[in-house]
This record gives sequence, structure tokens and C-alpha cells, in this order.
Amino acid sequence: MTEISEKLILDDRLSAVASFVREGAVFADIGTDHAYLPIHLILERKVEVAFATDINHEPLRRAVENVKKYRLSDKIKCLLCDGFSALKDYGITDGAICGMGGELICAIIEDAPFIKKRGMRLILQPMTRPHEVRKYLLKHGFNITGEKLALTDGKLYNCICADYDGNIRRYSDLELELGKINIDSNRTPLFLKLLERKISAQKKIIDGKMRSNLDVTPDQARLRDYLRLYENRSISILKKGE
Ligand SMILES: C[S@@+](CC[C@H](N)C(=O)[O-])C[C@H]1O[C@@H](n2cnc3c(N)ncnc32)[C@H](O)[C@@H]1O
Repeated sequence: MTEISEKLILDDRLSAVASFVREGAVFADIGTDHAYLPIHLILERKVEVAFATDINHEPLRRAVENVKKYRLSDKIKCLLCDGFSALKDYGITDGAICGMGGELICAIIEDAPFIKKRGMRLILQPMTRPHEVRKYLLKHGFNITGEKLALTDGKLYNCICADYDGNIRRYSDLELELGKINIDSNRTPLFLKLLERKISAQKKIIDGKMRSNLDVTPDQARLRDYLRLYENRSISILKKGE
């Protein structure tokens, strides 16, 4: 018999997501693919039951196979469905949607009105357009209560944790783009790395536009925002080290 490890170690991206799942949650991983997240959470005894859903047959087959491999078929229910559509009656408290585009993540939340209830937590890791995800959450009654940046295979990922309370909130454009919590804490090395990448990309955008004689006023304003945050961050590190 193949020996099965008692643990499943996640990469930094999925570890950051897992860290936001609450102890004892009724957890659902939407678009699970390999099901590593629910398997990890059950093996860590953070949750007792979990749901793993995917809209496509092949990823769901992978999930079922891995769940069997770890002998967790009695604890993780794998379902072939679109988003949360098969989960209405299961009392889900914490739902993760990871590794998808920001617009698709928003569409999946939009299609599940029953998750917009007090006590519901969403943990989202968009591959693109994190600002759209933050904007959607704030507009639809979710308070953004946690942010983590994760670096995996040289790529930086935003992991966003949000709790529903029904209140509508607004962020500035910069807060939507970088995450207000990331800006306010402004101390992690990964935030510095994010700013470095933003500064470098923004400089390229400005150069390109200038070569085409386009107006760069708003782009330069955004570059100044990044530089201001970057310099504040560097100063706070220097002060800490003094
Ligand atoms: C790139 S994989 C991400 C897998 C895993 N969540 C992760 O982050 O490592 C995206 C998965 O989402 C699934 N998916 C896409 N749209 C979906 C939807 N509307 N409902 C459920 N699953 C979906 C895809 O079939 C695919 O398996």
C-alpha cells in the first residue's frame, strides 16, 4: 500500500489563502481543481468537513482522486457544479475562490445571493484585476478584513479576505489597486516588491505613451503615488533599524 503523508504542504499562495479560513468552518473551495486546499485544511484539523467544487470534469476527477488518495472521501464532498450553485443547503461559512480571473470571481459571487449573509467569509485570490474584486466586495456588503501578498514561482499574488456585514464601503483608486490593508500596514517586504514592480511597469507605460505623444498626466500622478508609498516604506524600515 502506498504510504500517505499526514500533511499536505501548500505553496505560499495557497498557504496565505488557508490562513484566512476559520477554525471549525464549513468550508467550500470553488474551482478546486486538485483539491489541495480542502485536503490541507482537513489534515491540519482546521475544518472537519469541506466541499470541493469544479465546473469541469477533468479538474473534478483530479480532486476526487486526490481526496481518495488521502482517504478523506468521508470528509470532503466533491461536486461538479458552477460556482456555489450546488451548495445552497450546506450552511457554508467560508468559501475560497482562487486562481481565476477577477471578473470571473465577481460573477461567481454575483450568482450566489445566498452567500451574502452576515457571518459569511470569502477568501479570494484573483489572477487578474484584484481592484475589480475589491470594488465588488465593498459595493456588495463585504468588509475587507484581511490582505496577504504571496510570492510563488516569482509571481506576486493578492489574497483577499472579506466578511459580509451588509454595509457598503468605498476605497480610493489607489486603495482598490493595492489593497487598503496592504497600504496601511505598509511594512511587509512583499508590499515593497509589489511597489517596485508597479513603479517599473508604470515607468514603461509612461515612456511608451510619451513616444506616441499621448497625455501622461494621470500616469505620472499614479507613479508619484507609488513612489511616495515606496519612500515612506523605506524610511520606516530605516527608522526601525536605527
Ligand atoms: C487555475 S484553476 C485554480 C485551481 C485552484 N483553485 C488553485 O487556485 O490552485 C481554476 C479552476 O476553476 C475552475 N472553474 C472555472 N470557472 C468555474 C466556475 N464557474 N465554477 C467552478 N469552477 C470553475 C476551472 O475548471 C479550474 O479547475
